[in-house]
Amino acid sequence: MTDKKQLKKDVLAKRDALDQRQEKSAVICKKIVDSNVFKNAKVVFAFLSFGSEVDTKIIVDACFLQGKKLCVPVCKKDGIMDAVAVENMSDMVYNKFGIAEPADVTKVVDKTDIDLVVVPGSVFDKNLNRMGYGKGFYDRYFVGTRAKRVALAFDCQIVDEVPVDVYDVKMHCIVTEKQILGDL
Ligand SMILES: Nc1ncnc2c1ncn2[C@@H]1O[C@H](COP(=O)(O)OP(=O)(O)OP(=O)(O)O)[C@@H](O)[C@H]1O
Ligand SMILES: [Mg+2]
Repeated sequence: MTDKKQLKKDVLAKRDALDQRQEKSAVICKKIVDSNVFKNAKVVFAFLSFGSEVDTKIIVDACFLQGKKLCVPVCKKDGIMDAVAVENMSDMVYNKFGIAEPADVTKVVDKTDIDLVVVPGSVFDKNLNRMGYGKGFYDRYFVGTRAKRVALAFDCQIVDEVPVDVYDVKMHCIVTEKQILGDL
């Protein structure tokens, strides 16, 4: 196994074993919802949590309550994904990875219209580097966007140094239950 794969495996095992995930998720989401970046954002692209990821429900609900346009990722082939607008959470289906996606995938939002991307990931470092799940969906998506890239992670996902490649896109900010790295 490569160093990168081993690091990802170790960190994800820690994330899977974490306790008080809902409480920690709430702390993380509230930092986002209270931020000026979120308050000023008209179009928010946020992931819907899968497995042991930070639960984004509070951010999703805040978007609906505050009349923001919310879009969620829909993965296509070859590492390409769309941001698809959703008006409520009732019309979701599960894709082949077991991730919730909107049943209606026709309302694709132009990536240049997005103000804030709420980014998932596996391992992060203090220099705002990110590892995802190994398909490059987010790295490809960020090319040609102006959106602020804010990743959500539990503190156990932050390591000293993440190995990066030329195509890896850095975050502007990483929010955990204990700290905010970069600018929110
Ligand atoms: N902008 C890009 N253009 C072309 N290929 C890319 C680009 N970004 C990533 N890739 C390809 O995607 C593969 C997976 O990338 P990487 O290992 O960085 O995924 P990741 O960041 O963990 O995944 P994700 O962004 O989906 O969470 C790489 O091997 C690389 O070849
Ligand atoms: Mg990457």
